Amino acid sequence: MDGNGRWAGRHGLPRVEGHKQGTRSARAIVEESRRLGIQHLTLYAFSKENWSRPRDEVDFLFNLLGEFLNSELSTLMRQNIRLNILGETGELPLATRKILQMACSRTRSNQSMQLNLALNYSGRLEILRACGLVLEKGLDPGNLDEQEFSRYLYTSGQPDPDLIIRTSGEIRISNFLLYQSAYSEFYFTETLWPDFDAAELHRALEDYYLRSRRFGRVESV
Ligand code: FPP
Repeated sequence: MDGNGRWAGRHGLPRVEGHKQGTRSARAIVEESRRLGIQHLTLYAFSKENWSRPRDEVDFLFNLLGEFLNSELSTLMRQNIRLNILGETGELPLATRKILQMACSRTRSNQSMQLNLALNYSGRLEILRACGLVLEKGLDPGNLDEQEFSRYLYTSGQPDPDLIIRTSGEIRISNFLLYQSAYSEFYFTETLWPDFDAAELHRALEDYYLRSRRFGRVESV
C-alpha cells in the first residue's frame, strides 16, 4: 500500500491525510476483490521496518487501523470475510491487539474470502520463526518437505499468492511473503495507493490473465 505520503505531498496535505485516503482504497479493494470472487487478499499495512517512522505517524497509523476495523467489522460480517493477521502481533500496541483479536475471532467462521493484514510483518523473520517452530517440534529434517514447512508460516493453510501488486513505482519486494512468492506474478504500477481503485485492480488482473504461468516447466503446445 505504497505512496500514501507522496499522495498527500502532491495534494499539499500532511502525510497522515494520505494514510486516511489509503484506508478508502483499502475498503474499495477489499469490496471489489470480494465481488470478483478472489478468495485470499493480503494488504501489507505495516512492516517491521515501519517502526522507524516518526512516533506520531506510527501512533496515527495504529489509531487509523483501529477505526478502520471498528467501522468495517459489520461489512466483513455481511460479506462473509474472515480476517487474519500476518506478523508479530505481540509487539503491537495493546489497544490494537484487542481490536485485532476481537475482529479475528468474530470473523473466524466466515468463508467467502480471507483478508490478511500484514502487520509488524517481515518475510525473513517469518521464515526464521517457522524454522524455530520446526526445531521446537523436533521434526526430523529428513521428513520435512515444502508443504510441511509452509504449515509453520503465518499463511498456514492458505495458497501461495498468484499475483503481487506494488503501487507507487517501487520495483522491489521489500521483505514481503518471501517464501510464498516463489512463483507469484508481479505487477508494478506508478499509481499511488490512495489512487488505486477498482478500475486499477481490474487493469492489474487483466495484465495477470495475459501471462502464461509455467512454474519452471516448458510451455505446452
Ligand atoms: C505506505 O505509504 C503506507 C503505510 C506504511 C501505512 C498503511 C497503513 C494504513 C493506511 C493504516 C490502516 C490500515 C489498513 C489496512 C486500512 P507511505 O507512507 O510509505 O507513502 P510514501 O511511500 O509515499 O512515503
